[in-house]
Amino acid sequence: MTEVPVHLSERSYAVLVGSDLMDRVGEQVRRVLPEARVCAVVTDSTVGRLYGERVLTSLRRSGFEPVLITVAAGEPSKSMVCVEDVCRHMIRAGMDRTSFLVALGGGVVGDLAGFAASIFFRGIPYVQIPTTVVSVVDSSVGGKTGVNTPEGKNLLGCFHQPRLVLADVDTLGTLPRREYNEGFAEIIKHAAIRDEAMMELIERLAGAEVGGRTEALVALVARNVAIKAAIVAADEHETAGLRALLNFGHTIGHGIEASAGYGQLLHGEAISLGIVAALRISEDVVGLDAGASEKVIALLRRYELPLRLPASITTADVMAKLSRDKKFMAGAVRFVVLRALGDAVVSRDVTMARMEAAVDGLR
Ligand code: NAD
Ligand code: GLY
Repeated sequence: MTEVPVHLSERSYAVLVGSDLMDRVGEQVRRVLPEARVCAVVTDSTVGRLYGERVLTSLRRSGFEPVLITVAAGEPSKSMVCVEDVCRHMIRAGMDRTSFLVALGGGVVGDLAGFAASIFFRGIPYVQIPTTVVSVVDSSVGGKTGVNTPEGKNLLGCFHQPRLVLADVDTLGTLPRREYNEGFAEIIKHAAIRDEAMMELIERLAGAEVGGRTEALVALVARNVAIKAAIVAADEHETAGLRALLNFGHTIGHGIEASAGYGQLLHGEAISLGIVAALRISEDVVGLDAGASEKVIALLRRYELPLRLPASITTADVMAKLSRDKKFMAGAVRFVVLRALGDAVVSRDVTMARMEAAVDGLR
């Protein structure tokens, strides 16, 4: 097991990355919450079926009294209605400010349950147990919580750091291949913005079965968590321009995701296209070497991530959708570009016309 610290003074916590952790949840949680007793384990219908009982059993063995709360699997559960449902369930179960919450699942459960924990009795502690690639390397670390509204994604939420993150790579073994691969878009993003040397490790894992090569996977996840942790520690609230670098590929990616038909593109697949567009823009705006772009694109290809825009998605629609993204709402466009592999910066020189040309270039 590898422990990656997230340094945030009194809000610091550890991310434990390893295998075979699900039966040790209770003992690990006991170390950070020595006095606690009652807790809610919030999960979704798929993850609950796979791992719910093991987590509950482990918590009980360590003297906790867990209550299981299951939401429907999928993005629609990231809603205010669902937050209220979870909180009311907790109230009816007798929970109060001395209770805590465990988020067991992917980024949807983590964002929803983390938000519920942040407002329940004005805030209770929570523990993240991420079970998707995106959630182990990205969403479970850094304390961004929240839900969607019909107007847009992640528009309601707050920062609420977890007390502990338990990332068990064994759980990734039950993901369907497509869902496993899509998470690598965020891993490839981390390599592109911060860690060129990691590209070799990503390449080596590309031929492995889903969740296979445990040791290499633990090493890869821990390295990604360390990248995210360092960025979060330096810019917790995304005010210093550093955390914004994590949005590499996401500006156009979100526009594409919002334009795609239901189920047409997974989030990571849209981000793959957003990364390709952002690489081309980087070549134009800050002179990124075309060979560097090709190295990133080759990795996306190895994980079978899309490099071409489906014909049914129009450039006009992508442009309309991305200008409604919350990154644009303040007016000025801040676009993340790469000067070189591992060296990302925020640019204010990327015009809408240039973005439009990059979206067209994906055809
Ligand atoms: P998700 O949580 O919807 O999980 C994807 C699907 O996989 C779901 O159907 C789920 O039931 C299933 N699943 C989860 N774990 C499984 C497992 N081990 N085995 C089999 N099936 C499993 O999606 P996600 O990609 O994990 O997260 C996406 C969400 O994360 C988005 O809402 C996004 O906005 C959010 N996000 C948040 C942050 C952050 O910093 N808070 C960062 C990135 C993404
Ligand atoms: N996933 C982007 C962030 O946590 O800031």
